[in-house]
Amino acid sequence: MSSPVQELRVLVARKTVEAVDICGLELVAAEGQSLPPFSAGSHVDVHLGDGLVRQYSLCNDPSEQHRYQLAVLRDPASRGGSSAVHARVKEGDTLRISVPRNHFALAHEARQHLLLAGGIGVTPILCMAERLATMNAEFRMHYASRSPDRTAFLDRIRRASFAHRVDFHFDNGDATQKLDLPVVLAKPTPHTHLYVCGPQGFMSAVLDTARAQGWSETQLHWEFFAAETNAAPRSGDEAFEVQLASSGRVICVPADQTVTQALALASVAVPVSCEQGVCGTCLTRVLSGTPDHRDMYLTPAEQALNDQFTPCCSRARCKRLVLDL
Ligand code: FES
Repeated sequence: MSSPVQELRVLVARKTVEAVDICGLELVAAEGQSLPPFSAGSHVDVHLGDGLVRQYSLCNDPSEQHRYQLAVLRDPASRGGSSAVHARVKEGDTLRISVPRNHFALAHEARQHLLLAGGIGVTPILCMAERLATMNAEFRMHYASRSPDRTAFLDRIRRASFAHRVDFHFDNGDATQKLDLPVVLAKPTPHTHLYVCGPQGFMSAVLDTARAQGWSETQLHWEFFAAETNAAPRSGDEAFEVQLASSGRVICVPADQTVTQALALASVAVPVSCEQGVCGTCLTRVLSGTPDHRDMYLTPAEQALNDQFTPCCSRARCKRLVLDL
């Protein structure tokens, strides 16, 4: 089971407009000067009040220890997170955040890196570009967005030392500059790794094209956004049981509840954060039974092992799962 996540108090030193509907936050230590170090691709959990916790990727240069930078897209389908950041968070506020965690790290064995960002998915990708530029590593970045005015960090990237390694692709631009995935992903070499972050349609297009072009799973790295997923039970879902290995206790998971909801009602606490199968906080070992994986945290290969699952959204393909709880 996950260990409790260490937390920090930070001050909102600056709130900026990064593009249409995208705000930036610069967070500094509320006490002391430096913040815990982070690696490229890291995110923090941000506590936004009323039990609302959201994950946001850090997008500054990982060599910086005096600040964390985030960028948040106002999502019309927001379940509260992005609208809270846009409407309520202001300069001078103190926020509770987790220490940075990384589920989307650079593969240091790679000799070349291909970075693909769609929209606000640029945040971890930009952090990776900063790091790779510092390391003098071989990389190319493609950044697709709707239009220049909706492109966060456009000026920062154009002024960066690695600007010559970045191609912008605007939906409202001419056909010659559109992102041509079969071309960009053609002929994968064994030492090139691909990193992608963006809206679900963008990510699926990139990953499907890469697999079709012969990229192996070990070369593919991705991070989904919580807002793109829906963890709620679906119509047609059925009730099943979970058994706690430590006590033998059996708990019924009704068709309209998630496993974590059913466990919480039975006073069994499992740590959760995103509650959408994205962050991995709730990851729990499965000792027997076959989970119905609905997360975006585990890789397809990890899911196929069926020895762990994310009870905030995943269900069962059998009558009973025995959990390491
Ligand atoms: Fe984030 Fe379950 S709480 S994956």
